Amino acid sequence: MDKKIKIALVFGTRPEAIKMCPLVKKLKENEIFQVFTIVTAQHRQMLDSVLELFDVVPDFDLNLMKPNQNLWELSSDILLKTKEIFEEQKFDLILVHGDTTTASFSALSAFYSRTKIGHVEAGLRTFDKNYPFPEEINRVIVDSISDLMFCPTEKSIQNIKNSGIKKGMYKTGNTVIDALLYVVNNKPANLDFIGLNNNLKTILLTSHRRENFGEPLRNICFAIKKLIEKNKDIEIVYPMHLNPNVRNTVIPILENIERVKLIEPLDYAPFCTLMQKSHIILTDSGGIQEEAPALGKPVLVLREETERPEAIEYGGVKLVGTNTEKIVNTIQELLDNKNEYERMSKSVNPYGDGHACEYIENIIVEYFRC
Ligand code: UD1
Ligand code: UDP
Repeated sequence: MDKKIKIALVFGTRPEAIKMCPLVKKLKENEIFQVFTIVTAQHRQMLDSVLELFDVVPDFDLNLMKPNQNLWELSSDILLKTKEIFEEQKFDLILVHGDTTTASFSALSAFYSRTKIGHVEAGLRTFDKNYPFPEEINRVIVDSISDLMFCPTEKSIQNIKNSGIKKGMYKTGNTVIDALLYVVNNKPANLDFIGLNNNLKTILLTSHRRENFGEPLRNICFAIKKLIEKNKDIEIVYPMHLNPNVRNTVIPILENIERVKLIEPLDYAPFCTLMQKSHIILTDSGGIQEEAPALGKPVLVLREETERPEAIEYGGVKLVGTNTEKIVNTIQELLDNKNEYERMSKSVNPYGDGHACEYIENIIVEYFRC
């Protein structure tokens, strides 16, 4: 091939960066590609820490994050700012990731510029437009205008087929497993600064979803208080997302409680080490639902629905929702019932073999060769 294939990878939040940086690096190794990294910086600090870890320096940084930003303004900023770059650079392919505002509005912008689109982590669905909000609709938008869809599992391919799209889907696994294995094998982190007590069982908590703001998140915090009162042998570690909607709810309920550690968001390497050290993980995060089964850690999902049902089917993940009693009872069972704990921690990882980036690279090469 004489002319290089000009590819842009666009991302903006922490999870997109974790899942796209390994792909940036993989594509850059192949000389037939000219690779550009565009960050919207929908997140700022939480994005930068991932870029630094993977040693990725963006070619374009739109620097869009505003404190307590809203969907309308962020969406229009992404459309207008990416337009300038897309119209000038004329990429052969624009890759976006997952279900964020960055993904949906960069993809729309690429579509308006009549550029081919590749969707990494395509085909995830709950089929409920309000859960997760607005991510479910973002995924539908991106898949409906993509030329290439890199699906983590067979189920995600089937979801797209069921929507009437007939071609462009490939099963690749999720690049999060590539990222996780790279970090676990190459970047072990020291957690001394957290001050974990080795005599206690660590329960790791994260929660940041929009649909959990307000009462659901309060219910989660009350469950934590009850569990701490009932079990003197556990500690809870909550690296809090920087979104003020999370902090303003969590801090007044959980600050200054013995054995509850409210900490700043962790860089990805220490976070992986913390997942490995944890006994149970309690989360509404998407990415953590994929990583924890690969580390053999039971996960209880603080949501009513999930677009990642595979690990539930394999037994490593349970949906608990946000009802205080249900959370308390489910965790208590896992703490008390050794067999149930063993069963959940021995489940398999359905999200990939750690070579998703290589599969995606090969599919792109084949696509442009034809
Ligand atoms: C976004 C994604 C969500 C994803 C999450 C990952 C959308 C609609 N939502 O939600 O799908 O699960 O990221 O974390 O795209 N903030 C900082 N510094 C940071 C990051 C965030 O201060 O590095 C604060 C800012 O006040 C910002 C706010 O958090 O305005 C919200 O960020 P935003 O990206 O709009 O929403 P998330 O809840 O992070
Ligand atoms: N993560 C991290 N530090 C933290 C919390 C999470 O590095 O303090 C990582 C986690 O391992 C996963 C990703 O961030 O890879 C998930 O991001 P988040 O939960 O913000 O978003 P989601 O996956 O729900 O979109």
